[in-house]
Amino acid sequence: MATINENYLKLKAGYLFPEIARRVKTFADAHPDAQIIKLGIGDVTEPLPEACRTAMSKAIEDMGDRASFKGYGPEQGYPWLREKIAAMDFQSRGCDIALDEIFVSDGAKCDTGNILDIFGKDNTIAVTDPVYPVYVDTNVMAGHTGPANDKGEYEGLVYMPISAENDFTAEIPSQKVDLIYLCFPNNPTGATATKEHLKAWVDYAKAHDAIVLFDAAYEAFITDESLPHSIFEIEGAKDCAIEFRSFSKNAGFTGTRCAYTVVPKTLTAKTSDGSDVELWKLWNRRQSTKFNGVSYIVQRGAEAVYSEDGQAQIKALVSFYLENAKIIREKLTEAGLKVYGCVNAPYVWVKTPNGWSSWDFFDKLLSAANVVGTPGSGFGAAGEGYFRISAFNSRENVEEAMKRITANLSV
Ligand code: MLT
Repeated sequence: MATINENYLKLKAGYLFPEIARRVKTFADAHPDAQIIKLGIGDVTEPLPEACRTAMSKAIEDMGDRASFKGYGPEQGYPWLREKIAAMDFQSRGCDIALDEIFVSDGAKCDTGNILDIFGKDNTIAVTDPVYPVYVDTNVMAGHTGPANDKGEYEGLVYMPISAENDFTAEIPSQKVDLIYLCFPNNPTGATATKEHLKAWVDYAKAHDAIVLFDAAYEAFITDESLPHSIFEIEGAKDCAIEFRSFSKNAGFTGTRCAYTVVPKTLTAKTSDGSDVELWKLWNRRQSTKFNGVSYIVQRGAEAVYSEDGQAQIKALVSFYLENAKIIREKLTEAGLKVYGCVNAPYVWVKTPNGWSSWDFFDKLLSAANVVGTPGSGFGAAGEGYFRISAFNSRENVEEAMKRITANLSV
C-alpha cells in the first residue's frame, strides 16, 4: 500500500499566490468586464534586458553547431558564470567568496526549500512573522513542525514578530535556535537591514552554532549605500551563513529561471555525535544527485547581466520598478494610508485602514478598484492588518491602479 507524506496534510489552505489567483478568477468570472490590475505576486512585467537576449540567441546558435554544442553542463553551473558572480557580486564588495562556493540553480525559491535536504530533523527553526511563506511551508513538508493553530502558526517553529514597532527587524531571540531565515530587503515588508543588525545575527549564530539562511533575492533594489547587499559583508558570516540570490527580480528572469546559492567552504554543522561536517560537501552532493544544472542558454543570458551593457540595462530595470514603488508610496500616502518599505525594495507594505482585516482590504480593493494585492495575513499571523502591493508592473498599470484606489477607497 502506497502511503503519503502526511506532513502535507498539516499545510494551511493553498500556497498563498495560487489561493489569490483562485479568488481573482472567481471575481473575474462574475465580472467579465472588469479590467483587473494585478499588483499581487511579485512577478516582473518588463522585457528581458537586450544584453541577455543577445547572449541567449548566440547560445542557441552554439547549440546548433556540433563544435560548440553542449550536453549536460556542470551541476554547479558553468565556471564562466560562477567566476563573474564571485568577482562582481562579492569580491567587488570586499566579500571573500570564491567561484566554487557558488552553486547556480533554477531559483532561490527552490533552493530555500531544497536546502533542508542537508539539515537534520531536530533543528529549532526561527522565522520572522510575517515571512515569505516558502520558508515555513517547506519546513512543514519536511516534517519539522507540528500542526498549525487557529492563527496558522505551526507548533515547533520560533516566530519572530516584525512590525512598525521594531522597524520590521526581528529581535535577536533570547532562546537558542539552530536555523534562522532572514530576508533583506524583506519580502513582504520591504524593510532593510543595517550592517549592525546583520552583525548582531552573525554574532548570535556564531555564539550558538546556528546557521543563518539569508535570502538576498531583492538586493539589487538597495539604493542606500550604507546598507549591506550580502551577509558576507559582515565579518565571520562565512562561518555561519548561506546566501540565496536570484536573477528573477533584477534581470527579469522569473520566467527564464536562474539563481544561485552561496555555501562557503568554511561552513560546518554537527552530526548527532558532535563532529563537524562541511555543508558545502553535502550541498554539492545533493545538487549532483538531484539536479542537472541550468540550461547553457539561460546561463549565457545570466552571464550577460555582468557585461557593461547588461549592468546598465539591469540598473535601468531596477530603477523603473523603484519609480513605480515611489508612485505607489506617494499616492497611497496622499490617500491617507500608512505605508512602509518600498524605498530600497519593490514592495509597499500598507497598514489596512478602518480596522479592516487583510482579506477585507483585499476584497474591497478588488471590488471597488479592480486591483489585486496580497493580504498581509497570508505571510503570517503578525501580517494581519497589513497588505502588500508589488511595484512589479507597467507604469501605465501602476498609475491607473493608484488613480482607481484614490478615487474609490474611503479611508
Ligand atoms: C512574491 O510575490 O512574494 C514573490 O514573487 C514570490 C517569489 O519570488 O517566489
